[in-house]
Amino acid sequence: MADADFLKKLGIKFPIIQAPMGGGLSTPELVAAVCDAGGLGSLAAAYLKPDQILDEFRRTRALTDKPLNINLFVGGYEIEALRDARPMLSLLGEIHERLGLPAPVLPTFPPDPFPGQFEAVLEARPAIFSFTFGIPSSDAMKRLKQRGILAIGTATTIEEARLLEKSGVAAVVAQGAEAGAHRGTFLGSFESSMVPTLELVRAIRPVVSVPVIAAGGLMDGRDIARTFALGASAAQLGTAFLPCPESGTPEAYRRALLSARTDTTVITRAFSGRPARGLRNTFINKLQGKEDCILPYPLQNALTRPMRTAAAKRNDAGFLSLWAGQGVTRARSLPAAELIQRLIAEMKEAGISMQ
Ligand SMILES: Cc1cc2nc3c(=O)[nH]c(=O)nc-3n(C[C@H](O)[C@H](O)[C@H](O)COP(=O)(O)O)c2cc1C
Repeated sequence: MADADFLKKLGIKFPIIQAPMGGGLSTPELVAAVCDAGGLGSLAAAYLKPDQILDEFRRTRALTDKPLNINLFVGGYEIEALRDARPMLSLLGEIHERLGLPAPVLPTFPPDPFPGQFEAVLEARPAIFSFTFGIPSSDAMKRLKQRGILAIGTATTIEEARLLEKSGVAAVVAQGAEAGAHRGTFLGSFESSMVPTLELVRAIRPVVSVPVIAAGGLMDGRDIARTFALGASAAQLGTAFLPCPESGTPEAYRRALLSARTDTTVITRAFSGRPARGLRNTFINKLQGKEDCILPYPLQNALTRPMRTAAAKRNDAGFLSLWAGQGVTRARSLPAAELIQRLIAEMKEAGISMQ
């Protein structure tokens, strides 16, 4: 049985959340299509400047009047002494030459963009604000509450879920080890926080009183129904929405997703400096055994951006970050509204009743 109270609180019809997907993937068109189909669409704002956040929000609002979510990264910077960047610059130099780019230069350690981005979120005033990599300050949580914005945080362990509940979130996303892209881990080590989605939902459900949203490797309604049987109230899917025509997925990335025949995803720090799951490709292979020269997040992320942008333009999947969850081989190329209808039909077939 779907959690009718939670759906009512979020203002949506179906317990399906399209995950925020940074880097231009979750476009206003995708978000609006999901919202109009009865799910919750999420704008990924972590890589956007405050004025870009407001602009994306307005563009989405022009397409739908349904409740929507804006998502940010809360910190996540590795505060550590900067390693010698020369080996990384030299390795990247060869790739830049191949892609016809000027030699890479080391970006300066950027200030945390969260405070400015957060002000833009407050100004946009979406129905929901979700976050990952940490927890906003109690003052920030208070300001969300004052504006009637529901907060949703990401947990990869029981301890993180407990802390999130204490901070006043309306729900916790249980991000399992199968999930595509960055790990949300913010307590303990990344290695010790790789709990499979079903196990994580089962573990978190009894220790928090707020609704649990399952995420990680969920591709069809049967997958979602399994998490509901363990107490999840909604499901957040990323990889499943990447092939939708409304998404901003570059062509080479789209092809790689739809042609993944076996599970070839790996957890890598190669692209951003922070562990994330994606399809193995040339760049990941090039850095294998050379993990020591990878710079911390967000420096590595900024450093590899020109390479990724050039690779997208050239349709070269070898040097793009091909983020994907472990369910990638079951990705379907369907318009977002149709995907949601199928997911709901499959959930019903699997015994989940909807109102
Ligand atoms: C391409 C991509 C980008 C993502 N970007 C974000 C993001 O900006 N913020 C966030 O909270 N989660 C992000 N996620 C993680 C999702 O919220 C979610 O945990 C994940 O997609 C679930 O696993 P799945 O991809 O197997 O469905 C991203 C996932 C993908 C696939």
